[in-house]
Amino acid sequence: MNKKIFIYAGISLFIMGGIAATPPPQEKPQWKNLKLIPQKTNEELMDRIMIRYSRQLGISCRFCHSVTKPDVLPKRADFASDENPQKRIARDMMRMTDKLNKKYFDFKNDYGFESLRKSVITCYTCHRGLHIPNKMKLYR
Ligand code: HEC
Ligand code: HEC
Repeated sequence: MNKKIFIYAGISLFIMGGIAATPPPQEKPQWKNLKLIPQKTNEELMDRIMIRYSRQLGISCRFCHSVTKPDVLPKRADFASDENPQKRIARDMMRMTDKLNKKYFDFKNDYGFESLRKSVITCYTCHRGLHIPNKMKLYR
């Protein structure tokens, strides 16, 4: 008898613990290391911005984003890490591009969907699908 109660108590504690440990559903993704793109950016917009950078420079995500440390499994891209110097250069390029738009074309990039369409200067303005813009090597 006592033993039975004990087992039931144990089972219900186990179930309650499980419910408590279930994280609440998240509305917004939590970005870990943004300095320019607003924190409120949703996943769809973040993807669009990043895919656009990749296309405009003719590269993949890995060009700017380093991979998790060898002891972290499974191996995957560590998007929040600033270890890859290309990501830090990209941030400076984002600042420069924002400035060019603002100063010369009176356009303020707020990293929203509208800005994706309306920016006057984009990475593509200079890069044209190359990670190092053409230095006219064809003519040398
Ligand atoms: C040209 C370099 C570059 C490329 C290519 C690139 N990213 Fe990024 N990514 C950045 C920079 C710079 C930031 C940080 C932006 C900031 O500080 O506001 C960032 C931030 C992110 C973040 C937010 C990480 C966090 O939590 O802070 C995600 C997710 C991400 N990138 C995914 C991708 C994916 C997926 C691809 C490929 C489709 C990609 N990136 C391609 C430069 C790049
Ligand atoms: C006004 C022209 C211009 C714009 C706009 C521009 N870039 Fe660049 N970018 C350059 C030049 C020029 C270089 C090469 C610099 C060098 O050779 O040292 C470069 C180099 C880079 C590099 C280093 C590539 C490598 O292989 O080392 C990255 C990453 C980069 N740009 C990302 C971006 C991103 C992302 C954007 C848009 C947010 C952008 N750039 C917009 C001119 C530009």
